[in-house]
Amino acid sequence: MRPGDVDAGGVWIRRQPRSGGADKMVFSRGDVRTYSSVENSPSTSRKTFGENQGEATVYPFWEVIVEPTLKRLRPRVVVEVGSEAANSTVRLAAFCREQGALLHSIDPAPKFDVERFSQEYEGYFQFHRAKSLEALPRIPTYDVVLIDGDHNWYTVFHESKLLEERALKQSPPFPMVFLHDVGWPYARRDLYYDPTSIPPEFRQPYARKGMHPDQSRLLDSGGMNPNLCNALEEGTPRNGVLTAVEDFLAQTSIPLDFWIIPGLNGLGILAPRAVLEQNASLADYLDQWRLPDDVTAYLERIEDFRIRNILRLLDTRAALAREQARLGARIRELEGVVQQMTAKLHAAQGELSRLKASS
Ligand SMILES: C[S@@+](CC[C@H](N)C(=O)[O-])C[C@H]1O[C@@H](n2cnc3c(N)ncnc32)[C@H](O)[C@@H]1O
Repeated sequence: MRPGDVDAGGVWIRRQPRSGGADKMVFSRGDVRTYSSVENSPSTSRKTFGENQGEATVYPFWEVIVEPTLKRLRPRVVVEVGSEAANSTVRLAAFCREQGALLHSIDPAPKFDVERFSQEYEGYFQFHRAKSLEALPRIPTYDVVLIDGDHNWYTVFHESKLLEERALKQSPPFPMVFLHDVGWPYARRDLYYDPTSIPPEFRQPYARKGMHPDQSRLLDSGGMNPNLCNALEEGTPRNGVLTAVEDFLAQTSIPLDFWIIPGLNGLGILAPRAVLEQNASLADYLDQWRLPDDVTAYLERIEDFRIRNILRLLDTRAALAREQARLGARIRELEGVVQQMTAKLHAAQGELSRLKASS
């Protein structure tokens, strides 16, 4: 345990302020280096699936932390919550095929060809077109769960509770859990893919408006993810992914260790102590990710720059789109003028021809 950590019922938690504002920015790893290193990975078949290099993805963590962890853990069953375009799914499925393990992926609205993917990874892949809280109880057992689905307190807290319930009822221990988005913008703010599926008493007021790290309230225009249903306020109780994990840890009786890995929007890792005690290589590996405070602060600074650069890029894109629209309208206006002038010219030429003919 280090300065800045708190002991929550036998669990280590890195301190992340619950209030909104710039001081709670977390993490980064250089995008370019991380993406390119994943692109060079021989163990994936990106030509078929998982081509998209979107921002909201957990796969840049694959080569640097998820795969090394899984290799040490040697899971038999892996669960992925939130596949989207299969960027992570393809890596997990390839890993499971190599290791003779089984991958369950859960997503109510996948953006890839599930049938073709299932054929390619037959025997190693099972897809659940459902929400996590419906699908998780139907999966008999699992050793690892990657949570990157609906990024809100209600969903993440109850996903964790389902894993806990299973561990307390059955012999497999609590699984190893990776959670994406324990950093800004969704550490302390809910996002709802389907707001109607969240019980009203757990749903924050929300709007399809963008976010900025300097303010808790949503922006009137622009900002990060303006097309998604984001909670109006940041840092209130029962709000955000990291808050959900902390609230879960504060009440569970299962001894768990928690890491927040500096990275793109933050990666959380929950590891059951029972598993770490049995697996020294895994425990040693994860120990390396207890970063010194200075390194964490430095990485937070890089993440702050990264996010502000994305916001600048989005602003520039929006300004360009506005300028493009303005220029398009001006071009159409001038085309109209040219048409009118051309018509007048033709009329004048006709008149001239008639005058010449009659003189
Ligand atoms: C951020 S994307 C996942 C990205 C993916 N993990 C990756 O690494 O590229 C979130 C996905 O979660 C899915 N989703 C939303 N609500 C969900 C829920 N309740 N259970 C499971 N998946 C959900 C969405 O359909 C979306 O495809």
